[in-house]
Amino acid sequence: MKRIAVMTSGGDSPGMNAAVRGVVVRAENIGVETIGIYNGYEGMMEGRFKKLTMKDVDDVMHRGGTVLHSARSERFKTKEGQQDALDQLKAQGIEGLVVIGGDGSYKGALALQEAGISVIGLPGTIDNDIYGTDFTIGYDTAVNTAMEAVDKIRDTASSHLRTYVVEVMGRDAGDIAIECGLAAGAESILIPEIETPMEECIERVERAYRRGKKHSIVIVAEGVASGGEVADQIAQAVDVEVRVTVLGHIQRGGNPSCFDRLLATKLGSEAVNMLAEGESGYALGRQNNRLSKRKLSETGEDVNPRVLEEKKEKLTLAKQCAI
Ligand code: F6P
Repeated sequence: MKRIAVMTSGGDSPGMNAAVRGVVVRAENIGVETIGIYNGYEGMMEGRFKKLTMKDVDDVMHRGGTVLHSARSERFKTKEGQQDALDQLKAQGIEGLVVIGGDGSYKGALALQEAGISVIGLPGTIDNDIYGTDFTIGYDTAVNTAMEAVDKIRDTASSHLRTYVVEVMGRDAGDIAIECGLAAGAESILIPEIETPMEECIERVERAYRRGKKHSIVIVAEGVASGGEVADQIAQAVDVEVRVTVLGHIQRGGNPSCFDRLLATKLGSEAVNMLAEGESGYALGRQNNRLSKRKLSETGEDVNPRVLEEKKEKLTLAKQCAI
């Protein structure tokens, strides 16, 4: 294999740059040329390609966002769009492709694989919602960002004896909500995968004040409801001032954590090894502390029962540990 390409797609996540760096450095070390595709599948269809060398990635490991830019593309979902993309890849002599992105990006990757391009997918999303990997690139940074934000909110919440409802990202997954809620000692954590009755959430807020706590924190994953909706229900039931904070895209930015840089580097490097050895059609990840690979065609499956069980355990722990 002489020439591969790398791209980032969908919502950006901290560590995507480290993954791009991992690909470029490993490829150059084994004599393979890397082409960067800018702006995701949109850029692929438009031929926005540029050769990348180690020099292009010598200062990106620690940066958030993606130097290759990213996009969500409707046009690429069409047959015509995919044909344009294939024509561009073939014209550039690209034999292998590394796609760094989430579920939607994997669907595009699978379409290209089925059309004859050798593709490896790397899980780049803050949502931690990719089947077949315990962690996605960017999740660790995002959950730490959310936790630090909640720490700050607690300071002001305590000063004013208020309840704060903090809405976090995650699309249909509650991973950011659970872990940041647990680490920040939230009274209640609402996630889409496991329903918590509103009465229970309200009771936990009341109980915190009864026990002498000066504030109360409720974390709500965006896939459940808006922070405002939850806050309204609490305010109607409890005699306390309630405020809402939507953390939003702050969770997608910032320098990647050490964990995300290492994960991204290992996966980027391994993606090149696999392409060079003629393996393709896989999504890479990390499971039980080891590198894992799963067929791209299997990544869209429903929530893994083991993952659901772990989420239940974490919610139970959060309840047992909240004051
Ligand atoms: O998938 C990452 C994510 O940040 C989700 O958590 C969120 O629902 C979505 O992307 C937001 O997308 P956009 O940046 O297009 O508003």
